[in-house]
Amino acid sequence: MENSKLQELFNELSIEEKIGQLFQATGAVYEEEAVISGPVKELGINERDIYLAGSVLGTMGAKKTKQIQKKYMEKHPHHIPLLFMLDIINGYKTVYQIPLGQGAAFEPELARKCASMAAREAAADGLHVTFSPMADLVRDARWGRVMEATGEDVYLNSVYARAMVEGYQGEDLSDKETLAACVKHFAGYGAAEAGRDYNTVELSERTLRDFYLPAYESGIQAGAELVMTSFNTIDGIPATINKKLMRDVLRKEMGFDGVLISDFGAIGETIIHGVSEDRADAARRALEAGVDIDMMSGVYPQTLCQLLDEKKIELERIEECAWRVLKLKNKLGLFENPYKGVDEGVAEEQILCQEHKELAETMATKSFVLLENKNNILPLSKGKKVLFAGPYVNRQEMLGAWSFTGDISDTITIQQAAEKKMKNYEVCFCQGCPILPKEMKLDGFVNYKEEEFTEKEIEKMLTEAESKAEQADVVVLALGEHFLQSGEATSRAMIEIPENQMKLLERIEKINPNIVVVLFNGRPLDIRKIKQRAKAILEVWMPGTMGGNAIVDMLVGNNAPSGKLPMSFPYCVGQIPVHYDELNTGRVHVPGRDKDRYVSKYLDIENKPLYAFGYGLTYTDFHISEPVLNKNTMRKGEKIVASVKVKNCGERSGAETIQLYIHDVAASVARPKKQLKGFQKIELQPQEEQEVSFAISEEMLRFTREDGVFASEEGEFEVFIGNSSEEERKTKFVLKDA
Ligand code: BGC
Repeated sequence: MENSKLQELFNELSIEEKIGQLFQATGAVYEEEAVISGPVKELGINERDIYLAGSVLGTMGAKKTKQIQKKYMEKHPHHIPLLFMLDIINGYKTVYQIPLGQGAAFEPELARKCASMAAREAAADGLHVTFSPMADLVRDARWGRVMEATGEDVYLNSVYARAMVEGYQGEDLSDKETLAACVKHFAGYGAAEAGRDYNTVELSERTLRDFYLPAYESGIQAGAELVMTSFNTIDGIPATINKKLMRDVLRKEMGFDGVLISDFGAIGETIIHGVSEDRADAARRALEAGVDIDMMSGVYPQTLCQLLDEKKIELERIEECAWRVLKLKNKLGLFENPYKGVDEGVAEEQILCQEHKELAETMATKSFVLLENKNNILPLSKGKKVLFAGPYVNRQEMLGAWSFTGDISDTITIQQAAEKKMKNYEVCFCQGCPILPKEMKLDGFVNYKEEEFTEKEIEKMLTEAESKAEQADVVVLALGEHFLQSGEATSRAMIEIPENQMKLLERIEKINPNIVVVLFNGRPLDIRKIKQRAKAILEVWMPGTMGGNAIVDMLVGNNAPSGKLPMSFPYCVGQIPVHYDELNTGRVHVPGRDKDRYVSKYLDIENKPLYAFGYGLTYTDFHISEPVLNKNTMRKGEKIVASVKVKNCGERSGAETIQLYIHDVAASVARPKKQLKGFQKIELQPQEEQEVSFAISEEMLRFTREDGVFASEEGEFEVFIGNSSEEERKTKFVLKDA
């Protein structure tokens, strides 16, 4: 619709209708014909509010969404279509690797393809908006939502946020295969104190700006149509009603002109935070901060009219929000076609089609990180007797916590894949133990129940695994977190694999030391004990629908691992937060000089994590030369080229991710020890050598200076190029203003 026409329509809307556009209800109320019950009733809204609401959360399915849209539009005084929104986080029906694993691929292009695949499936099934990407920077593995992030690094997160937004939205939002993307959770949600979800966030403005904000901004610059507020406080004020954050930083500085939506119930929660006095006050504050849509608080429909009558808010504030929502509907082409993209036939054709499954398998393959491989136990030598044991051997629940759109019965398990692909081996399988200890209940997860076993049955499982292990050359143990142990509201203070699985590992080790652990998890875990006991560890995260195939192909060497950790694996919980881009202290501990007393170190463990950011092995060895620069002085506007020669010294082809890190030696504020500024994944045949170069520009050297300006400063910079953040070989250049 032309802008002038949209404006005409807008002018015709009553105030109530405009307010309606600012409210989002769950799909359940529409599916049940506007039955106002349960949590919706508690929001204090009525049937009329439901039929004036602008958007729906959590309904999917071509037939269902079409029916709801039709009925809703008939009832709406101006027949304005609804927006259907949903969390499509790592795929829709074809579920691919969780975002943390996608980060490990160091292949944003692949994430872009996955996002457009998800958009294709979901749009055909009636959806318009996805609440993705989550661009929150994460440094605390106790926080369950690290699985939804792409890791601890500001640069990596930024390139992924951009790629995902572009993937979902495509070139044209009115195209039937696209979704509008929502960058979340603005801002700093990943910094919850002590890793406890929804907890207070305490960040200096400099840390917020230099580390936490850039990835959101990158998604916004890529054209994200929506941004979601976060549950936490920023500088003591809940983000959702934080005027400075939303009006000054998001709208003015970042130039975001799209729809700002609250997180689920977050406007109402500002009362519990102890900042808003009551629901009306919460609504007023959120509106003043410029929050356009109230997701499931009900405070907008309930209080805005009255606030307006009492002159506590200005009509203009409501109108700016409603206008933004209508503009989004228009961009999506909903006024021309309220059923944009919805098509049962297309949905059937697209969903889980061969092309999508192949992409999901590639994403899984590229995301796996080989953490250990003693005596080159992997890939498994042909002809060997291989026992697959552990709760993940024949388990389909490997889709991650947001996989409710997918169907686990579409998932290929390790056993299914191995039976097909391992004809040159002697394979056998057993579960070994349940996924969780008997006493561990997944409290709060309604509708989910694990199979229960008696003590006797559990012991039988263990002894079966032991006797099979005795006969085997190699034991592949598929272990890890339950998929519901990571995700929203799943903070953990102890981040080891469940203890009953550890017991399986310990008992098998006594019988057969040739152990390969395939590790499933949504967060970095404390895997010290696994490291001691296993010869190889293959980190597979929550690999998605095609996980089984990808894992088996990796184990037998049809593919080689190429993933790198997007987040440090701590040595233990006491070390958290541990991240590679920390600042130097005035008292640096030099590894090996443990008798130095007054330095920044622990008495009981090393400072460095068990596995660092950027680390990951493969089946061959690469030699990387010392970095060289084409010149040693950079003047503003110029570039320096840094390069290394990379050689595959092994006997197999393989891929390596070459990473560029820079350190600003002396600046007006302390700068990270090193920061990722670029990476390139290359593939080399045995004995092949290739030069890898990076162009370093002045823009890469900028930060929030002492004077608050985001700019670079003259002086010396160190350049590191290697295959993990632990690379210490370096060279230097000097930046000069003129
Ligand atoms: C989560 C968001 C999500 C929303 C809607 C909230 O609880 O924090 O990330 O998009 O629910 O499902």
